Amino acid sequence: MSLPQKLSSSRCQALSGDIAPPGDKSISHRSVMLGGVAEGTTVVRGLLEGEDVLRTIAALRAMGAEIHKDESNVWHITGVGSAGLQAPQGVLDVGNSGTSARLLIGLVSGYNFTARFTGDASLCKRPMGRVIEPLSQMGARFDSANGKLPLAVTGAAHPAAITYALPVASAQVKSAVLLAGLRAQGVTSVIEAKPSRDHTENMLRGFGAKVAVEKREDGAEIISLEGLPQLKAQPINVPADPSSAAFPLVAALLAPDSHVVLRNVGLNPRRAGLIEVLRRMGASITFENRRQEGGEPVADLIVRGSALRGVDVPPEQAPSMIDEYPILSIAAACAVGVTRMRGLGELRVKESDRLSLMAQGLAQCGAMVEIEGDDLIVHGTGSPLRGGATVETAMDHRIAMSFLVLGTRTTEPVSIDDGSFIATSFPGFGTMMNGLGTKIA
Ligand code: S3P
Repeated sequence: MSLPQKLSSSRCQALSGDIAPPGDKSISHRSVMLGGVAEGTTVVRGLLEGEDVLRTIAALRAMGAEIHKDESNVWHITGVGSAGLQAPQGVLDVGNSGTSARLLIGLVSGYNFTARFTGDASLCKRPMGRVIEPLSQMGARFDSANGKLPLAVTGAAHPAAITYALPVASAQVKSAVLLAGLRAQGVTSVIEAKPSRDHTENMLRGFGAKVAVEKREDGAEIISLEGLPQLKAQPINVPADPSSAAFPLVAALLAPDSHVVLRNVGLNPRRAGLIEVLRRMGASITFENRRQEGGEPVADLIVRGSALRGVDVPPEQAPSMIDEYPILSIAAACAVGVTRMRGLGELRVKESDRLSLMAQGLAQCGAMVEIEGDDLIVHGTGSPLRGGATVETAMDHRIAMSFLVLGTRTTEPVSIDDGSFIATSFPGFGTMMNGLGTKIA
């Protein structure tokens, strides 16, 4: 990772333009992992070339997959075949990426070799016990000082197919268990009380695995994977990431008279919670050209500057917008009225403690914010906030981008201590935003 990069953002006029935000991070990681263990060459268009996905690419290369990009920016992933994953030489350093860490630990848990994982200072603070627990039940053995990275995992020669009820709503944990289940004889099932993003199960089906989803009466879902499938390479078109599109989207809503088109944005219902909440706040967001791309619903979003009002966001909504609370809290701070975002305990274990950092940065910029238990409450007045602060981002790309969006509306500029982590998910963020009319420098 490069040196700390201080950035600042100043108040701007209406935004306008037509952009394609970068490819979906979750789908990009999974394309590389599933392509890496499938038979044949998976051709991927629109892959996110963010630092996090590059870490996953490096890890799969280290375990034998051949991966390259052609002159047209199309990626070609030639997999090793289901049994062919090789023990990596050296440590797999997955940088800032929780998705790389948890999903790759799951993937290698079904192979009888030892892999060592490490990450940056942010990732080494994040809990891995949530994957260690079910993967140990499947027969993997772990060597980790405190349930965090760095750790070594030795996969099981014959992993056990288990049924695992997720104690937290986490697509990463669900995915880790399913990926380990690829190498287990029999059916591996995950029970999730609240539905989280379903890219792993959808893509596994696309690669030829048998995955069944059963809805229980209490609303929980049971996702069941038949072990030992022969995965076959698939062409993949990666839609734009709704979690990245969220930043230009909110910036456009907040600047009066803005008119911005966001192309090809993924609208999987399990990812689209932010759009529903923003519309309830009074946002003008319309969909054009709705279509299916590689099994995912996508559309072009037309966003117009809108006067927003505060709303209540129930905890059930959290899994469908878990990465969007930082930018939603910026929208809330610029709205009129109170926004209460409930049940955000998981935000404490993201790339940073997002609950504390958002509250702290917003307060520094002049907003009225409270944390009550796991709820974040923002009192919007509708008048411009002062800004004029340098906000701590703690190696967290989404905190960084959120405060740069806030700076587009404050009377004094908002600075962030380090924008270098933005490249983990949204390379070219500043250039794309300034192309719409923001003043990020
Ligand atoms: C992701 C799942 C979410 C999300 C992360 C990406 C994924 O994490 O925050 O950015 O690709 O599966 P959790 O499953 O831990 O909530």
